[in-house]
Amino acid sequence: MTVIAVFNQKGGVGKTTVTAHLAATLARNGIEPLVIDLDPQAHLTAMWRQRVLPGESVLRFYQGLAPLSDLARPLPGGVHFVPSGLELSKVDAQVVRHRDHIWRLKLGLEAEMLSDSGMPILIDCSPALGPLAFSALFAADLVLVPVAADYLALHGAQLLDRTLAGLTRFRGRVPRRYLLNRYLPGQDTSEQVLAQLRQRYGDELLRSMIREQPDLARAAHSGEDLFNFAPESVAATDFSYLLDELIELGLLRI
Ligand SMILES: Nc1ncnc2c1ncn2[C@@H]1O[C@H](COP(=O)(O)OP(=O)(O)OP(=O)(O)O)[C@@H](O)[C@H]1O
Ligand SMILES: [Mg+2]
Repeated sequence: MTVIAVFNQKGGVGKTTVTAHLAATLARNGIEPLVIDLDPQAHLTAMWRQRVLPGESVLRFYQGLAPLSDLARPLPGGVHFVPSGLELSKVDAQVVRHRDHIWRLKLGLEAEMLSDSGMPILIDCSPALGPLAFSALFAADLVLVPVAADYLALHGAQLLDRTLAGLTRFRGRVPRRYLLNRYLPGQDTSEQVLAQLRQRYGDELLRSMIREQPDLARAAHSGEDLFNFAPESVAATDFSYLLDELIELGLLRI
């Protein structure tokens, strides 16, 4: 089993983009993933054009009213998707009343035997550091951290390192990998960020990178799977390399 939390507390770095297209790449390769939108902003839910009525989002699972498998909907490409909605913000708002929320996802995945199903599970985390994000980090076998190649990337990485160090006290060191996103080969800022990330994270920085690609934003707006939208694109190639590397490193078991 592999539970991957796509996490970075810095906003807009590509968490949702990476989750969506890594999921599409898995499905394209005949591996149907379970994808959970754990962000009350519900960007992934919107990107995949899902209509979510009250009571149909992952909030119901956090309220103890439905198992994840009942909330998962099959999407045409082969992804099983648990959607989000603004109502999910209640989980982060009720932090004091429901401290146990941070273990709920881990326990739920185990209880429903989804952890052992052989189905990869991808979680699109919110940038807010609250019980939702921590529940994903507590459930994860791998924390995949997209880092956008911009001048604030390193500042964001320092804050992130502190968060993950805090997590280590509870769970030991969970494997983590950093993924450079929005990379522009040859551009000064991109190359500087890449060099700094290599120095800082060594082998924890993935060799694969996701280049800056208008196709990614366009695919998001069209609501279409990247492989239908632009099968020959640089973006499709980058995500295929990413999947290969995760499998090769034994970080994604299929
Ligand atoms: N490699 C890329 N090339 C071009 N555009 C990209 C790339 N990666 C992300 N984007 C664009 O950047 C914006 C932010 O990406 P995304 O929503 O995936 O970030 P996020 O980390 O999920 O944000 P949030 O923290 O708000 O959840 C989106 O408009 C997305 O289309
Ligand atoms: Mg997002």
